[in-house]
Amino acid sequence: MRTPIIAGNWKLFKKSGEAVELVSQLTHLVRDTKGVEIIIAPVFTVLSTVKPLIANSNIKLAAQNCFWEEEGAFTGEISPGMLMDAGCTHVIIGHSERRQYFGETDDKVNRKIKAAISSGLTVLFCIGETLAEREANCTFNVLRTQIEQGLSELAKSDLAKAVIAYEPVWAIGTGKTATDDQAQEAHAFIRGVVADLYDHTSAESIRILYGGSVKPENVKELMAQPDIDGALVGGASLKADSFAAIVNYL
Ligand code: G3P
Repeated sequence: MRTPIIAGNWKLFKKSGEAVELVSQLTHLVRDTKGVEIIIAPVFTVLSTVKPLIANSNIKLAAQNCFWEEEGAFTGEISPGMLMDAGCTHVIIGHSERRQYFGETDDKVNRKIKAAISSGLTVLFCIGETLAEREANCTFNVLRTQIEQGLSELAKSDLAKAVIAYEPVWAIGTGKTATDDQAQEAHAFIRGVVADLYDHTSAESIRILYGGSVKPENVKELMAQPDIDGALVGGASLKADSFAAIVNYL
């Protein structure tokens, strides 16, 4: 049985005042749901503000990115160890917006994943095809390449610290959610690739989240799919009532 995860990617929103307000509302609205892992991913600058606010809750803290070096002359970067120092247990890596706007390649994603896991963080490893790739029937090729390259050189034991987030780029921020069948088909394929790369047990154990316009109105049908183990939520995580409604559904 895979423990479901509901994670909120706040992206570039919520300075400290708004973050405190959102978290204090969330901690009152989210039932003490032992059966689901809840994660929030604020911007770097509010991590240490938020951490004490969730200390007595079952909400965990994630960052939205990290570098692959622990320290050095890398202006502007933040290391996995620094994120752990700020109270993070998780880190999002390879989000399509970083691939699109910041030139994040599969190789860079892989270096970040290896560094984050070796530092003790659990990685939310984002993959997903663009609309053009889907319309060209390249979805499975894209996903296989992203997984093979993103997980390159990771041992089977490392997978305990890896969660895959399938986020079809055409569904992110568009309000156009993948259908339950589209999402399940992609998730089953992803699980099959993990089985090919590692083994059946690893494939059955790894959690695969869906991301792309998840809302309280559609989470139930998505979570009813056998290979969907949770959600990586963007816009709906910025409002306490909608994020809590997604979490509390479970
Ligand atoms: O990382 C999750 C995010 O990309 C999904 O965004 O707004 O479509 O839920 P949204």
